[in-house]
Amino acid sequence: MKTRTLLGTTAALMISTTAAMAEGETVGFAQIGSESGWRAAETALTKQQAEERGIDLRFSDAQQKQENQIAAIRSFIAQGIDAILLAPVVATGWDSVLEEAQEAEIPVVLLDRQVDSSDELYLTAVGSNLVHEGEVAGEWLVNAVGDQECRIVELQGTTGSTPAIDRKTGFENVIAGHDNMEIVRSQTGDFTRAQGKEVMESFLQAENGGKDICALYAHNDDMAVGAIQAIREAGLAPGKDILIVSIDGVPDIFKAMADGEANATVELTPNMAGPAFDALEAYWADGTAPEKFIQTESRLFTQDDDPMGEYETRKGLGY
Ligand code: AHR
Repeated sequence: MKTRTLLGTTAALMISTTAAMAEGETVGFAQIGSESGWRAAETALTKQQAEERGIDLRFSDAQQKQENQIAAIRSFIAQGIDAILLAPVVATGWDSVLEEAQEAEIPVVLLDRQVDSSDELYLTAVGSNLVHEGEVAGEWLVNAVGDQECRIVELQGTTGSTPAIDRKTGFENVIAGHDNMEIVRSQTGDFTRAQGKEVMESFLQAENGGKDICALYAHNDDMAVGAIQAIREAGLAPGKDILIVSIDGVPDIFKAMADGEANATVELTPNMAGPAFDALEAYWADGTAPEKFIQTESRLFTQDDDPMGEYETRKGLGY
């Protein structure tokens, strides 16, 4: 680990660029796992960004378990690394380990999800406005159904994670003002394709073989892709008999949109590491403290937005 006291004006004068400051720095990445295509792309882009910047990245896959992430952070602290990236699987339970990192003077940057700890315990958080993503999805559906009665089923993300909590809130905020729209069933599919399919099968069974369902709102594309398969197997036409709106913008959902089997997605960039490393490089260079939240954009894509073209441009990005 480089001593942080070296990072004052003298060091800044000796080292000409912030990129040079990153060269040789060691960063630990406590990743959640590989539950979705989006997550795989975030991992691939983080490794690529680190390599381009000469950062030595130590990667840990927690297999969706918070205890594994906490153990990884403790191991990074013991190794005396220069910074930690954390994509927190759930919002609660981080105070102690974040305090330990702070005591060791190791800056922590949160990626894509939030924690309920004090923001003094981390340097910055890079992510989207998760409530807004749910609102964008809800607004798309409101416009698509107009005055028609619409019974909605919802596939939630990992229980206790901020995307599951906030994407639900945002969507509900929007449909609350529309008496013709109602969420009739809502269950977690844990952000995975397999569970998205399984839970959708139970929704279809409970809702007259799916005939009583007007739309599916899935908190991520992977669960939507699993659900599409379940809808097809139930003899219905996904994207037509049941409208489908989800979040992420992974290649497979663009393929489904091009085939008419999905209707809309709200893009979440998997490049969280770029802004995170930019912030760390500035911090390493002269102690510059970034904003506490670095927000990425959320863009809506529909079948009118050249889904096949979007599929082609994204398919090699590690999804
Ligand atoms: O935290 C971001 C979410 O986590 C993505 O939307 C989802 O695909 C992933 O598992």
